[in-house]
Amino acid sequence: MAKLIDGKAYAEGLRARIAAAVAGLKKEHGLTPGLAVVLVGEDPASKVYVANKAKQTVEVGMNSWEHKLPAETAEADLLALVGRLNNDPVVHGILVQMPLPKHIDSAKVLNAINPDKDVDGFHVVNVGRLSTGQEALVACTPTGCVMLAKDVLGKLDGLNAVVIGRSNIVGKPVAQLLLAENCTVTIAHSKSKDLPGIVRQADLVIAAVGRPEMVKGDWIKPGATVIDVGINRIARDGKNILVGDCDFASCEKVAGAITPVPGGVGPMTIACLLYNTVRAACAIHKVKTPAM
Ligand code: GUN
Repeated sequence: MAKLIDGKAYAEGLRARIAAAVAGLKKEHGLTPGLAVVLVGEDPASKVYVANKAKQTVEVGMNSWEHKLPAETAEADLLALVGRLNNDPVVHGILVQMPLPKHIDSAKVLNAINPDKDVDGFHVVNVGRLSTGQEALVACTPTGCVMLAKDVLGKLDGLNAVVIGRSNIVGKPVAQLLLAENCTVTIAHSKSKDLPGIVRQADLVIAAVGRPEMVKGDWIKPGATVIDVGINRIARDGKNILVGDCDFASCEKVAGAITPVPGGVGPMTIACLLYNTVRAACAIHKVKTPAM
């Protein structure tokens, strides 16, 4: 049976290290990192995420601001708010919660954020910096995936990594991070031929397709590490439950280590957002980033 990768415990430890780093920055530099989160509209899942982000930001000792705008907010007004946050010296991180209402051009809004405050790592400048090996703010879920993989495997050098999914939020950036860790990286997706055959080559599988329980145990090379990014709500036995992109029951019999859903990658995302906010604050103030 696979070892369970406890993302909840890892994220708790990371948040404790972030809290210690924040306390040190306050004491030694009078610097309190601050994160502004912008929510447009009433999407219920987004409201839960934003509330959790604000709570955890305050818990590690940072400043937190929530800007809640009505769904009918004009694009120009959202861009004006982003501009004010860009110019506000106490704000070090800016996150505009996705998805945005359909009348707003998301790419335009994301690229209006100052790249040095782009704690989501979605701005084209940060995407470009990451893919050219420059210092970058990197998307949170991919960062969390790689932290967990390194915690289990140590060095990732030379491993065959298969990423299933090619989204801008997870698939593409996690592939870039794994390349930077010297993995041999394959990005597979819904149009790939013989997906099970490709996944069977992998020492490390990152499943980020958004299809409940798609990856089966007989796709997994015995002993491989499986990081499941999926969070899919399905009905089973009359109950609403959360499942990943991997069929956990069959995969855990074959894998060497596997993340559960929930309690795997999920808790890492906000912890990495806080981590990015500390990094952004230190870079802006030209202070050495503390170890976290
Ligand atoms: N919506 C779902 N996940 C994310 C995320 O990581 N960042 C933002 N901005 N919106 C999201």
